[in-house]
Amino acid sequence: MVQKKSLWLRCETKEFEHRSALTPTTAKQLIDQGFDITVERDPQRIFDDEEFEKVGCKLVEHNSWSSAPIETPIIGLKELPPNDTSALPHTHIMFAHCYKQQGGWKDVISRWEAGQPTGMLYDLEFLQDERGRRVAAFGYHAGFAGAAVGTLALAKQVGSEGEKDRLGEIHAYPNEGELIKYVKGQMSVIEQRLGRKPRALVIGALGRCGRGAVDFFKAAGFEDDNIAKWDMAETQKGGPFNEILEADVFVNCIYLTSKIPSFISPESIAAAGDKRQLRVVVDVSCDTTNPNNPIPIYSINTTFDKPTVDVDGITSGPPMTVVSIDHLPTLLPREASDAFSTDLLPSLLTLPQALAERAPRQGTAITASEVGSGPERVWKEAEALFWKVLGEKNAQ
Ligand SMILES: NC(=O)c1ccc[n+]([C@@H]2O[C@H](COP(=O)([O-])OP(=O)(O)OC[C@H]3O[C@@H](n4cnc5c(N)ncnc54)[C@H](O)[C@@H]3O)[C@@H](O)[C@H]2O)c1
Repeated sequence: MVQKKSLWLRCETKEFEHRSALTPTTAKQLIDQGFDITVERDPQRIFDDEEFEKVGCKLVEHNSWSSAPIETPIIGLKELPPNDTSALPHTHIMFAHCYKQQGGWKDVISRWEAGQPTGMLYDLEFLQDERGRRVAAFGYHAGFAGAAVGTLALAKQVGSEGEKDRLGEIHAYPNEGELIKYVKGQMSVIEQRLGRKPRALVIGALGRCGRGAVDFFKAAGFEDDNIAKWDMAETQKGGPFNEILEADVFVNCIYLTSKIPSFISPESIAAAGDKRQLRVVVDVSCDTTNPNNPIPIYSINTTFDKPTVDVDGITSGPPMTVVSIDHLPTLLPREASDAFSTDLLPSLLTLPQALAERAPRQGTAITASEVGSGPERVWKEAEALFWKVLGEKNAQ
């Protein structure tokens, strides 16, 4: 069966989200390979609509994807607007945040179940190459931005009377250089108020987010010796870890796969008393509603307009805040989108083949053992995972 090569880039509706799954550059590359690319007008996207039009994309009305031809896959990044339970009969390529039992996961996946036999979710977080590595991820820029927000939150707090002030609304930066320049300007406040150079601890430092966080701290002027870079070896002994309480900023960047001892807990914070240096925790991993979250000291995701939440129950030592923004790379939307979309492109080129194979058996589950080894395997594996999670939901 011949599958039309097409993709529909939907708008993002999540507040402050400026990133895009396709860029004018990757859209042009797809068009050069015979794809029809439809792009919804989107004022919040970092790229102007005209940039897509110029390379040959067809522009359509904002948020109009539900009227797209049923065989056209819809690509976007973040969640669809909340409080909508309507069936999803299209193929969606996106981060749906429903495969790790996050809050509301059953309602989210149920929408594609209701969209059978044509509905399908290919979750971007789970597209993997043959060696099990993610084909595209925003990690690097998430860690980079997270470390930046953490440093800004620290500066704001220590720079204020009684450490009462909190970081206000943050906004996207046009490029990395501008962000680094701005944060560097705040470093003197931190050093002056602490009376020493600041210390950071990054867990998951060997991963994408972790590398970004470490690179940011270095670029902002943290001394290398003052950046503790932890990964599996250092956490093997099991938390909670007092070392975390001795850093000024702690950035968690692990990829959580199972229940592990907490890295930090209300009890470990209380036990440190006024010896605690830790003021800001940046939970880049953001397993906020995951029952296995190893940072059980907060319960909400923070946002660009209110980037920190205070840790409750602090009775001694300085105040402590958590940054738990789940779309950090949007602080640097242009670079983050370019990197992500470029990495995703080779997989997108194999999508029509996967869709053609799926068409005759749509609505029927496949398992991981049936995905084969062709270049379109990445999509078949994502399809098998969709059916597996749907099965888990229905078994509960
Ligand atoms: N907040 C955001 O905006 C945002 C954006 C992108 C990614 N993320 C999240 O960040 C997390 C990390 O993503 P990534 O792409 O960097 O993953 P990754 O797989 O590249 O890196 C994870 C690292 O964590 C380490 N690790 C895992 N368990 C550990 C443990 N118990 N102790 C110490 N180290 C451990 C691994 O060895 C690895 O080096 C994911 O949960 C992802 O969803 C958040």
